[in-house]
Amino acid sequence: MQDAQNYIQQHKQRFLDELIELLKIPSISADSAYKDSVIKTAEVVKKQLSAAGCDHVEICETPGYPIVYGEKIIDPKLPTVLVYGHYDVQPPDPLDLWNSPPFEPVIQKTDLHPEGAIFARGACDDKGQMYMHVKALEYMTQTNQLPCNVKFMIEGEEEVGSESLEGFVTKNQEKLANDVILISDTGMIANDIPSITTGLRGLSYVEVEVTGPNRDLHSGLYGGAVANPLNILAKMIASLHDENNHITIPDFYDKVEELSSEERAKMAEAPFNKEAYKKALDIDDIYGEKGYTTNERNSIRPTLDVNGIWGGYTGEGAKTVIASKAYAKISMRLVPHQDWKEITQLFKSHFESIAPEGVRVEIKPHHGGQGYVTPIDTVAYQAASKAYEKTFGKTPIPQRSGGSIPIVSLFEKELKSKTILMGFGLDSDAIHSPNEHFGVWNYLKGIETIPQFYHYFASMQ
Ligand code: BES
Ligand code: MN
Ligand code: MN
Repeated sequence: MQDAQNYIQQHKQRFLDELIELLKIPSISADSAYKDSVIKTAEVVKKQLSAAGCDHVEICETPGYPIVYGEKIIDPKLPTVLVYGHYDVQPPDPLDLWNSPPFEPVIQKTDLHPEGAIFARGACDDKGQMYMHVKALEYMTQTNQLPCNVKFMIEGEEEVGSESLEGFVTKNQEKLANDVILISDTGMIANDIPSITTGLRGLSYVEVEVTGPNRDLHSGLYGGAVANPLNILAKMIASLHDENNHITIPDFYDKVEELSSEERAKMAEAPFNKEAYKKALDIDDIYGEKGYTTNERNSIRPTLDVNGIWGGYTGEGAKTVIASKAYAKISMRLVPHQDWKEITQLFKSHFESIAPEGVRVEIKPHHGGQGYVTPIDTVAYQAASKAYEKTFGKTPIPQRSGGSIPIVSLFEKELKSKTILMGFGLDSDAIHSPNEHFGVWNYLKGIETIPQFYHYFASMQ
């Protein structure tokens, strides 16, 4: 594999151009106005998988958006890697905060990406990272170095809960049979501090609606005499954390895995620069659950956050009104052993129980999913670790992430295989935010590192 760097340098411009073409299509799964674009993206992925050397590439129809499936089976006796990724993206809004339009990719230098980064919605999450695998396959087939079998499964509903993928995986266990699942849809610590993601958090997402009087009222004539749904909602939400920032929902922590002090000490070895963290976010202090570090708060601890809160008058100027209804969207990030359906139920019972007289509350659960932990004492993890050693010249640090890819726990349940999360993005790449980007260096480094994983995984069996 000595020639990987040469091959990448030689084809670098085309690798970038192809990704840029993919990024121009606004595959926003959450917004039905973009339906045609989402479907078109699946077709481009299909075409590129075939061009990269996959056989039998197909668009698998589902009740929602299609799943692109392709495979290259060189010898059924050899191990099989199943690559998963997603071609759908988050909505780009607020649009006015983008420095360049989200679906007109541009390459620009940044402090952390001196060689340039591609700015576009989906650049890092997940078109850019998914496409590294397509180009890694191209390299391995073109140079006759594919050492094992490979299957690709690229979906278009990850950002909205992977509903159709669940049925697809359950129905196609044989087709999807594999020895390891490989995903690049996470991040790493820094370009000079490679890390492998060993954990994902679970998720419970709910919407709450608080209803007071049957109509909006004059806030002078009725203010103080009826329960104001917005005041009440604010109070109820505030009560969900105590003074130590622990979550107050009864039994919420019952199943939370407590790490041993050795494990926590090991975690603390991962570099964290508090001043740089504060500066990057322009905050004067960090915040969170008492007794835990920032790295712990956003990985091994469960959390509860309001993602949106609305109601009443929010237009220009002042309108004196008591709204009839108040709303909020709330997410809870969960850790291993917490069951998302159980947590959703605990939230519902608690939130209903704290509603005072004078209002009614309704709780609507959205999608959710279980957390996941990758064991590090496996051939697959060792192969991944060696791959980074080869291309970064450093042993990667195992690190749990705060994000969620709910389908990973279903893969384990249905396909009985472990997942390796080789992410090449940085936390600062602004996924889901305005000005999302992905370093050109990171993109190419991913393409270089992935074939090394195949090489070690096949040879260590
Ligand atoms: N790729 C992200 C998840 C992620 C990002 C994990 C960075 C670890 C590090 C994925 O596309 C995502 O956004 N997941 C959602 C959940 C999903 C059900 C919408 C999330 O984590 O909010
Ligand atoms: Mn993603
Ligand atoms: Mn995402």
